[in-house]
Amino acid sequence: MADDFSPLLAQIAEAAICLTDSGDVADYIPALARVAPQQFGIAVATVDGAVFRAGQADQAFSIQSISKLFALTLALQREGDALWQRVGREPSGTPFNSLVLLERERGIPRNPFVNAGALVITDVLCRRYLQPERAVLEFVHRLLGRTTVAIDTEVARSERLHSDRNAAIAHFMRSFGNLQGEVAAVLDAYCAQCAIAMSCAELAQAALFLAADGRQPSGVRVLDPLDARRVNALMLTCGAYDAAGDFAFRIGLPTKTGVGGGILAIVPGRMSICAWSPRLDATGNSIAAAAAIEQFAAATGVSVF
Ligand code: DON
Repeated sequence: MADDFSPLLAQIAEAAICLTDSGDVADYIPALARVAPQQFGIAVATVDGAVFRAGQADQAFSIQSISKLFALTLALQREGDALWQRVGREPSGTPFNSLVLLERERGIPRNPFVNAGALVITDVLCRRYLQPERAVLEFVHRLLGRTTVAIDTEVARSERLHSDRNAAIAHFMRSFGNLQGEVAAVLDAYCAQCAIAMSCAELAQAALFLAADGRQPSGVRVLDPLDARRVNALMLTCGAYDAAGDFAFRIGLPTKTGVGGGILAIVPGRMSICAWSPRLDATGNSIAAAAAIEQFAAATGVSVF
């Protein structure tokens, strides 16, 4: 009989509520500052099709940088290895929105998860699609097998109106020839993609292919097994930016975080886990969601190490 994670998730959700007091919601995107902070949800989707939930696992939230995972996968499907000529595969050790390495490294971002790398990926998608943010959204719909997910246009507009830092990154990379489209178009698409709203249960289900050698439970092939392993490797080393080492130490799984407070984790061969709580630590990662996934990994013994 398959494991029933419901009792463990209920216990984790109860403990997590005590942590929803610490940290701050992201306020550099004004629409995100309005989110009620004391919320928590967690969901686990297993490769054999079961979904377990606790807390507000079905409450949609702004996925923010977790969208970079879907954009990267879509770009890999379209470009293959050519992508790696424009973006690296090294952890940056810097905050997600840092510019410092870009000058030294001549406009080639360290990895596809820091904002610079994600903007290059968006630029790639801008070349391939008339509406790149719709392409990412429709890709999520295909992963889920339903069209219930949408872009929160208020969050998208709010981030776009406060996108000076990302604009600086994009212009800087363009000066090195590593951004081919117009900066404004890339920023429009990037901010809209980050504003996709999904629940923990939806995110865990959408990302299951990463736990299943690149194939969704429906049988649809998303990535070949090698690329699925590579994306997991990038999540482990770069998915939490300058906290990636600490996350590998504490959680021991590939993760991708977002300033909406979501954290997605992959257990290769077994399951995907998503936890969400809006308050963040200084590295922009959710305090309660990280603690919850850490607790789940400790209780079940799952780890890639
Ligand atoms: O570009 C930004 O600043 C946001 N749209 C996404 C940042 C983010 O989620 C970083 N992850 N923890």
